Amino acid sequence: MSESATGDGNRTPGEAAPGTGGAGRVTRVAHAAGTGDGTRAVRAGLPEPVKYEPTLPGPVFAAHFHLPGDPTGPYTYGRDENPTWTLLERAVGELEAPGLDGAETLVFASGMAAISAVLFSQLRTGDVCVLPDDGYQALPLVRAQLEAYGIEVRTAPTGGDAQLDVLDGAKLLWIESPSNPGLDVCDIRRLAEAAHARGALVAVDNTLATPLGQRPLELGADFAVASGTKQLTGHGDVLLGYVVGRDSEAMASVRRWRKIVGAIPGPMEAWLAHRSLATLQMRVDRQCATALAVAEALRERPEVTGLRYPGLPDDPSHKVAARQMRRFGCVVSFKLPTRARADRFLDALRLVDDATSFGGVRSTAERRGRWGGDAVPEGFIRLSVGAEDPEDLVADVLRALDAAAA
Ligand SMILES: Cc1ncc(COP(=O)(O)O)c(C=O)c1O
Repeated sequence: MSESATGDGNRTPGEAAPGTGGAGRVTRVAHAAGTGDGTRAVRAGLPEPVKYEPTLPGPVFAAHFHLPGDPTGPYTYGRDENPTWTLLERAVGELEAPGLDGAETLVFASGMAAISAVLFSQLRTGDVCVLPDDGYQALPLVRAQLEAYGIEVRTAPTGGDAQLDVLDGAKLLWIESPSNPGLDVCDIRRLAEAAHARGALVAVDNTLATPLGQRPLELGADFAVASGTKQLTGHGDVLLGYVVGRDSEAMASVRRWRKIVGAIPGPMEAWLAHRSLATLQMRVDRQCATALAVAEALRERPEVTGLRYPGLPDDPSHKVAARQMRRFGCVVSFKLPTRARADRFLDALRLVDDATSFGGVRSTAERRGRWGGDAVPEGFIRLSVGAEDPEDLVADVLRALDAAAA
């Protein structure tokens, strides 16, 4: 047996622990109802103040912890638990599920580690799973792996409720809303109710919305899953993922999966992520407002088609989005007539980096067709709006469109 192979059952809630400012191992969600998003974000997961200790204790670098006698937790071996994760897990839980008693959060090395942990820990050979056919471009790889394990995978587009037609007999419904890169939105509450009526679990990829934009567990989902690599951390320098779940048995399987696969975040990444949460509301508010301004400017351009931003009142998803989202994200997608024109547009941008990913404080854009994985036309652009001054960014986008047309 490896070190702390029994780690799952070894935790002692509330016990003081190294690097947690005496907060103990707390991954249960603190009750923060009645508190505004900004207040919650700056305080999320912080331990009780301790004289001469920093507000947010620094990263704890430890492969193992001093552990005489019986190997009881909370901290035994570094693949099972780490005090820096404890604080981050508490913070993410406070944002994703404020006031939801019993919800539990686990952090992972990346969004894909978190996604895989839910799917591969919950599904068994012979089970049926419903995935989006227009979601993140690694999902087809996941699908192939699930099928290799004898799991039946059905797909449905994000918008339009087509999931309802393929839910019978399903064990798990996977939703990505808004979807990346098409920015379609589905009615999470309605789909969750339909799935639960058929005995299926529901997981929502909340990457694009962030917990300040949407709280899937409050909408009825069993799991909120996300890549923290994007706007949650927002600086383009950290890979991270998380799972928040309402059911302790299901989360015990997710935890076991993390332990088996070892898809754990480094303490430095976890600490950087926690540090970034303090500015989450400011970043998200700024980026969402500017994304709307950019979308409104793009709407006026004749060469732009297929413009999508859930915050635009005339976007096909707006009605549903407005019911379940409190902020509409920082990503705008649209089409230019040709691949060459899209490339010229990207070349002409000065304030927008030509890079993949999204959610960072520096705007990025890319022609998604270059990867070959998304069902999008060659001129399809995904633009992630950063924290630049809105007027500067809008001017840069309009100037680049002019340059591309020339
Ligand atoms: C919606 C969505 N989910 C999951 C992921 C995977 O996240 P990561 O790159 O952190 O593994 C991404 C990455 O772009 C994404 O866009």
